[in-house]
Amino acid sequence: MSVRRGFWGTRFGFYLAAIGSAFGLGNLWRFPYVVAENGGGAFVLLYVFLVFIVGTPFLVGELMLGKVTRSSIIQATQKLARDKFALGQSLGFRRLALFSGYFSVAIAVVVLAYYAVISGWVLHFLMQFLVGTFSERSLNTEQALAHLLKNGWLQVGLTSVHFLVVMVVIAKDIEQGLERWVGYMMPVFGVLLVILAIRSSSMNTATDAFRFMLYPDFSKLNISSLGQALGHVFFTLSIGFGAMVTFGSYLRDNVYTPGAGFRVATVDSLISVFAGLMIFPLVLASPSPISGPELLFQTVPVLFSRVGGGYWFGVAFFLCLYLAALGASIGLLETIVSNLRETKKVKRSHAAMWAGVVCFALALVPALSSSMLKGIRWGDKGILELLDAILINWLLPIAALVVSQVVVRLMSEDVQKSEFIDDEFAPSAETFRHWRILLKYVATPIIVLALILQAIGLFSG
Ligand code: TRP
Repeated sequence: MSVRRGFWGTRFGFYLAAIGSAFGLGNLWRFPYVVAENGGGAFVLLYVFLVFIVGTPFLVGELMLGKVTRSSIIQATQKLARDKFALGQSLGFRRLALFSGYFSVAIAVVVLAYYAVISGWVLHFLMQFLVGTFSERSLNTEQALAHLLKNGWLQVGLTSVHFLVVMVVIAKDIEQGLERWVGYMMPVFGVLLVILAIRSSSMNTATDAFRFMLYPDFSKLNISSLGQALGHVFFTLSIGFGAMVTFGSYLRDNVYTPGAGFRVATVDSLISVFAGLMIFPLVLASPSPISGPELLFQTVPVLFSRVGGGYWFGVAFFLCLYLAALGASIGLLETIVSNLRETKKVKRSHAAMWAGVVCFALALVPALSSSMLKGIRWGDKGILELLDAILINWLLPIAALVVSQVVVRLMSEDVQKSEFIDDEFAPSAETFRHWRILLKYVATPIIVLALILQAIGLFSG
């Protein structure tokens, strides 16, 4: 292969990148609104359960796929499909495997397009708080959101700024530097979230909010909740996009993949739950009903505009959130670029430019969805929500399922074992058995059931 393949400088470097790519808008922007749509506690419980039963085994599978083949998803799945171990499988499955990598990368392209639009929203609030801080003008956060939503071209502008930053970082091959940045930022963000969660918990809506988030009332789940929980697990852990395959391909041989996967999943879920505990007291305190993708932007800025010194918190919060969004966008573009480089043998800078331009062109649709294209709706969903729902609740679980099956069925069992069995760690043989059982007999039926239930929900209105 002509592509130069780097390695993570340190084991810590990999964790930073993997946790950095898992941690993003999914935790702070998407998680709260999906929880709100699905009635709270029972959904949170279902989500946490699925993180460990389905998400973690899939994550480990993708990391292994990259690490063993030293390739990104398109080449990795093709290598396995052409391997001698694959011959025992049906021709149909091998054909599916040959094509599966393209499907994942296509999802990454479309997700990056609307992820960039939301990153633009974050930039907008960051600028609002900066202006508010320095001009001592009081900030009307509701107006700031309304102005943004009405103004499609402003969103296009913000999105293009975001793409420029991401493209320069990837083209210049400076993720290593950025990795460090994102690494420094994460502990700061962690502390900030804890402070804000404590602040929220002193509000008088806090008890109700905590009950809403933590008390599981299963009657509040609806027929598509399983699919939504599953989709969000894949989205937040970055599974099914090929991202973790690319990351795995940079892992050094001595890293124990199952442990790495488990840690990434645990840290990521903890952050999401904290974000929820911070946000829901604000949601319940709001006089107007709050839902949908605007939820984060309707609640958190209000908190900052009310408390003393809040503007500084606003700047710090949106700066951290922007860096998190940037880290995730970089991970997505890096996935697309590494696949382009391996399959088309193009230069890094050209691949970054072309992928960036295509994603930006696609992003025009969601960027204009709350203004010029407002009329296009399906039920109560606009274009942005529709895109999000189709990709995350339907296509992503299918993509992740196919990739996981390619790993269990087409990779030789000896190779799989060698990744799992660690002589210094006695229970690892058991872990291997459990991992295979989960992938083969537990995850697949859960995903199929989730898709069937969603389909019934769709047709029964
Ligand atoms: N997990 C990220 C988040 O929670 C979003 C994401 C999805 C991502 N797929 C990715 C990030 C691939 C990096 C690479 O916001």
